[in-house]
Amino acid sequence: MKIRVFATAELATVYVAALVESLITREPHPVLGLATGATPILLYRQLVAFHRQGLSLAHVTTINLDEYVGLAPDHPQSYRAFMEAHLFRHVDIPAAQTHVPNGLAPDLAAECARYDALLAAHPIDLQILGIGPNGHIGFNEPEGALKTRTHVVTLTAETLAANARFFPDPAVMPRQAITMGLESILQARAIILMAFGAEKARIVKAALSGEVSTAVPASFLQMHSDVTFVLDEAAASGLGAPVAEASAPLVEHFSR
Ligand code: F6R
Repeated sequence: MKIRVFATAELATVYVAALVESLITREPHPVLGLATGATPILLYRQLVAFHRQGLSLAHVTTINLDEYVGLAPDHPQSYRAFMEAHLFRHVDIPAAQTHVPNGLAPDLAAECARYDALLAAHPIDLQILGIGPNGHIGFNEPEGALKTRTHVVTLTAETLAANARFFPDPAVMPRQAITMGLESILQARAIILMAFGAEKARIVKAALSGEVSTAVPASFLQMHSDVTFVLDEAAASGLGAPVAEASAPLVEHFSR
C-alpha cells in the first residue's frame, strides 16, 4: 500500500490527475472506475482542463460505483447528474461508454446482475475512491457481513447525515442505494483512494493501520496489491511521523 501526502487537496489532485492522464494516453481502451461526492470534484475539474488542452477521452469507458435508488438520471441529486455536471458533459466520452447504476430500474436485482456483467466485460484499470466517515467505499457500509457483488444497500444513519449536505431538502434523500460490491472494487488493477480534511483523519488511520474488518470496509483495501492513499496533510494527521517524513520531499516539491 502506498501513501502520498500533499500539503493541500489541490496539490494531491494534480498528482492523481496526472496518473489518470497517463493511463488515458497509454491505454487504447482504458476503463476508469469513478466515484462521486465532494472529494473527486477537483479531479474532474482538472481532467476537464486537460481535455480543453487537447486530451481526448473518446476511447475511455467509465463505470461509477453507485447510485441512489429512486432517483431518475436527470434528478439533480442523482449520481448520474453529478457525473454529467462535473465531467461527462465537458469532455468527449461517448455517452454509451459511461455507466452509472440505474436507480429507477423496476427490477433492482436484475439491475445489479446487469452491472456485474458490465464489470465482467470491462475490467477496471484504475478505480478512484473516496471514503465515508464510517469507512464505507462505494456504499459498502460497515455491516456484519459485506457483499462481494453489486447490491442494494440501506444507507446507515451516519451516511445519511454525511450526505444530507448535498440535498436542499434532506427529507427527500433516498434511504437506499445500488453499489458495486467489495470484491468488484478489489478486482480493479489499481486503486487510488483520495481523502481530504481533518474529518477523514480518524477513518483513514483505521483503514490503513487497523485490522481488516467489516466494521471498516475500506480496511479491505489492505489486501490489494496496488492501492495508493492520496491524502492532504489534514487527512494524514492521524498517521504519525514516519508517513509525514516519507512524503516530505513530495509535499515540498508540490508546494512550490
Ligand atoms: C460516492 C461514493 C462514496 C464517497 C464517500 C465520500 O460515489 O462512493 O463512497 O466517496 O461517501 O464522500 P465525500 O467525498 O463527499 O466525502
